[in-house]
Order: sequence, then structure tokens, then C-alpha cells
Amino acid sequence: MTFSNLEGFFTTFAQANPNINKKPLGDFLAFGKPKMMDKILVIGAAGQLGSELTQALTNQYGGDQVIATDLRDSAKSQFDYCRFEVLDVMNREALRDLVKEEKVTQIYHLAAVLSATGEKNPLFAWHLNMESLLYVLELAKEEKLDKIYWPSSIAVFGPNTPKVNTPQFCVKEPNTVYGISKQAGERWCEYYFEKHGVDVRSLRYPGLIGYKSLPGGGTTDYAVDIYHKAIANEKFNCFLREDSYLPMMYMPDAIKATLDLMNAPRESVKIRSSYNLSGMSFSPKEIFESIKKHVPDFQIEFNPDFRQAIADSWPDSIDDSRAREDWGWKPDYDLDAMTADILKNLPSYFPPKK
Ligand SMILES: NC(=O)c1ccc[n+]([C@@H]2O[C@H](COP(=O)([O-])OP(=O)(O)OC[C@H]3O[C@@H](n4cnc5c(N)ncnc54)[C@H](O)[C@@H]3O)[C@@H](O)[C@H]2O)c1
Repeated sequence: MTFSNLEGFFTTFAQANPNINKKPLGDFLAFGKPKMMDKILVIGAAGQLGSELTQALTNQYGGDQVIATDLRDSAKSQFDYCRFEVLDVMNREALRDLVKEEKVTQIYHLAAVLSATGEKNPLFAWHLNMESLLYVLELAKEEKLDKIYWPSSIAVFGPNTPKVNTPQFCVKEPNTVYGISKQAGERWCEYYFEKHGVDVRSLRYPGLIGYKSLPGGGTTDYAVDIYHKAIANEKFNCFLREDSYLPMMYMPDAIKATLDLMNAPRESVKIRSSYNLSGMSFSPKEIFESIKKHVPDFQIEFNPDFRQAIADSWPDSIDDSRAREDWGWKPDYDLDAMTADILKNLPSYFPPKK
């Protein structure tokens, strides 16, 4: 049966069976080939985002179709549900060999030096964040890969950006090396799409909050650490001011947004730099108060450090109307819903020390 016949068969089948789950079928038809042929490579899979995104990708594509890779050999035990390989993304030959040998069709490139860590070694952060993206984009061009995912960040904005409901298109003068690398990365993504047709897709994540892994050196990490202290009944020392608002997102929403964007038909993805994405916005005082509803004796102290200046240069809240219009984005969690879910689940992942 030729593919067009096959497509016709599924369309007729769908019309005759209106109650079947339409989403996988819609994906099947939208991308023009069966999901079984997709082979997904995740780079930086052992990090805060990667460890949850890789699981979600395995749920979608099946364990045989996903290869998790990371610099850290110790991460292997984390991936009992899919194949794991040690890979330094800066080893261009090893990356190319893996993609060719395994007939990879999509890359999720998550490896990066984050904002706070980047300020400690700016040249290394620039080198890793930029070179690795260019290796992946070149490979996508040469090997004609189907799709690339690369995350950007609210760090692309800077002190001269409008702070409230920050628009998709506005002044961006980032003043951290991380933000500069993400801004340049966005330009490269759009360039490879325009000049070479590389189907690269990207989201400007706010601070990501999850309970399944520890954060990797970002300015929004306090909003993860605070829950660990709450379940341990310890006082929390906050490195930001109590009124420092930042855009944040609960990890299940970040995973949903990523899969929705990547599953959207090519023509729906109209922004090829990176989409603004919003979940919630809160201050350290507000997350503290949300936790106190469950842990009444919880205590906090505010001792801002160098990360306060980074937070001050970022938006308070984000306008993500383009993501909503173009591919139907809508978050599920607000602050109190996230707090309840984390406090319920965190102890089974990180039991408090006695
Ligand atoms: N976590 C957030 O709040 C947040 C917000 C905005 C954007 N992002 C972006 O999402 C992506 C993932 O972030 P994260 O929080 O999971 O970071 P993370 O630091 O937790 O994870 C990054 C992973 O990359 C791996 N890695 C580092 N160098 C590598 C190399 N040379 N080769 C292969 N792997 C390497 C690390 O071992 C780590 O497991 C990054 O691009 C980050 O900029 C994250």
C-alpha cells in the first residue's frame, strides 16, 4: 500500500469511527509518516527538564525510539525505560556518528550552562551554549533531520524590556552571558529555518519548578529549593528579595507545552526564534504564603545575593498570546495547585533527612 493510499485509509477509518482517539491519528496524518519511524535523541537528558521530558517522549514514541544522552555517566541508572548513552555534545564527531548510525530524525538539545552558573565562567558558558547549538543546527541541515527542539529562556529579556506582560516582540538587551547566548541562539534558529528550512522550534521557558530532580544553577532555583526545606521543617534562606516577581512554570505544564509545540503542524509554528510562554508569576513572599497553608510553622529569611541583580533584569510576567493563538497553548497550574501537588509528591522522590 502506498503512503497516500494509507493516508486515505486512515481518513476513511477516522470518519467511520468518530470515537477513536484523534490526536495520535492527527499527528500521523499531519507529519506524513508513521510515528514508528521517528527516532528521538535527547541531549542533556539527565538535567532538571530532560529527566521529565525524556520520560514523556518515551510515553509518546515508545522506549525503543528514544535515546537519552548526557555528559554524566552516573545518569545511566535514571533511564531504565529507554536507551542511555554518554555523549558530550561538544564532541561533534561522536554526535554525528550517533545520529547517522541510529537514523535519528529529531533532536531535543537541552544541554546548556544556566544563568547563575554562567556568570561564574562566562566564556565557557558562551562556548558551550553557542557551539553546541550550531553543531546541532548544522547536523540538522546536512542530515535533513525532521525536527529540532532547543529551549530559550526569559533570560533573553533585559533591564530595558517592559517588565509587566512582556510582549513577544520588544527590546531585548540581556545582561547575562546566559541571556546573550539564548538571544543569539534564537537568531540562529530563525536563520536556519529561513535559509535552510530546518524545522527548529523553541520556547522561552520561565523558571521551571519540578519535584522529580534538582535544579541546575538557575536564578529561579529558589522556587524548587523552598519546597525541600518545607518538607524537612527547616527555615528557608531565600537569595532573592521578598517582592521579587518572576515568571515561573510547573514542570507538567512545561512538558505539555514542549510536546504540543513539537506535535503542532509545521505551518502552525509561525515564530521560529522562540515563543513567549507563561504559566504563573509570583514573588518569594507569595510562594512562602502558599506553602504555609500546608506547613503553618514554616519560616523564611531573605538574604539577596548576586542572583538578585539577574532577577531584577528579567520580566515580572509574560504575554504568551502568540503561543495561545498559533498552537493552542494553555497552562493547567497556578501557584496553589502547584504547591499542593509538590508537597504531596516530593517526599517520595526526596525523603526529608531525619
Ligand atoms: N530549568 C529552568 O528553569 C530553565 C528555564 C529556561 C530555560 N531552560 C533551558 O532548558 C534546558 C535544560 O535546562 P535544565 O534546567 O534541565 O538544565 P540542567 O543543568 O538541569 O541540565 C542540563 C544537562 O545537560 C548536561 N550537559 C552539560 N554539558 C553537557 C555536554 N557538553 N554534553 C552533554 N550534556 C551536557 C548536564 O549534565 C545536565 O544533565 C537548557 O537549555 C536551559 O537553558 C531551563
